[in-house]
Amino acid sequence: MRCLVTGVAGFVGSTLAGRLLESGHDVVGIDSLTDYYAVGLKRANLRTLASDRFRFVDDDLLDADLDELLTDIDVVFHLAGQPGVRRSWGSEFNRYLRDNVEATQRLLEAAMRLPGLQRLVFSSSSSIYGDAERYPTLESDGPRPLSPYGVTKLAAEHLCSLYAANYGTPTVSLRYFTVYGPRQRPDMAFTRFMRAALTGEEITVYGDGEQVRDFTYVDDVVEANILAATSAVEPGAVFNISGGGSTSVNAVLESIERLAGARLRIKRLPPAAGDVRRTGGSSELAREALGWMPRVDMEAGISRQWAWLATGPTEGP
Ligand code: UGA
Repeated sequence: MRCLVTGVAGFVGSTLAGRLLESGHDVVGIDSLTDYYAVGLKRANLRTLASDRFRFVDDDLLDADLDELLTDIDVVFHLAGQPGVRRSWGSEFNRYLRDNVEATQRLLEAAMRLPGLQRLVFSSSSSIYGDAERYPTLESDGPRPLSPYGVTKLAAEHLCSLYAANYGTPTVSLRYFTVYGPRQRPDMAFTRFMRAALTGEEITVYGDGEQVRDFTYVDDVVEANILAATSAVEPGAVFNISGGGSTSVNAVLESIERLAGARLRIKRLPPAAGDVRRTGGSSELAREALGWMPRVDMEAGISRQWAWLATGPTEGP
């Protein structure tokens, strides 16, 4: 396949691109290398992709020549966006609107003109559910985001479904549940806690730490993307991609203390606005339609992330 990966320098995007290259596919990757977190980490991710079947485009989806970028592309994996649930308030919201909603709309406009496109896989988020109606949450359960970030991911997902309904654009949206593993973003819980375990610095826990997440290992998310690209599913389909566990932040802290053989210095702050109490997705639909199921459990996954972080990812220039 000839693939376009948007957000190719990021945590999931670079892991997916690496897997596609290993499998013999051609990859064009675009990323605007925003400074939401250290650009050096993104450049380090990109360095892992060196291959004559990889082309990197340093550009923004709102500026790039998308018709040129999509020439001869079979599958688009759309992972670019402004992440981060807790920072999407106030004037920051403009960035979320621009990078999550406007960029997706512009990409869809170009994709709909591409007759040979097999699939556009959109990276959505469990945050579209907010505090969900029930657990495990089904794709058909009502979306009611609790953060401005979740609103933008839901809007982008709706755009994918409505381009599918109106123009037959072959979109599939995958709702990821808190992805972790090697290369995880530095603003996310596991990376923050593990770095603190290595350096002895204090960490911040929001609320009582009894909030629960259905953490999902990055390789499982990559596999879901590939299956979504290659399986026969209705345009506009939406799937939960969830690890299947229910783990509290306090339980994560205990695991990291065990791995590190050290106690963490914890500062407890009030709950963060936009943070839901619990996530837990049913992945039954993904199993039926895509043959996907999570394969890496928390114990194995967290050890792999620890091993990666402890060997010191280099930021480089
Ligand atoms: C994550 C991603 O950051 C989002 O981009 C993604 O869309 C979302 O998952 C999702 O599943 O939809 P989140 O669940 O907040 O969001 O992931 P983490 O940043 O790893 O936080 C997990 C939990 O740890 C949260 O309850 C958070 O409040 C807590 N936390 C995080 C802390 O207590 N302290 C920290 O320093 C960081």
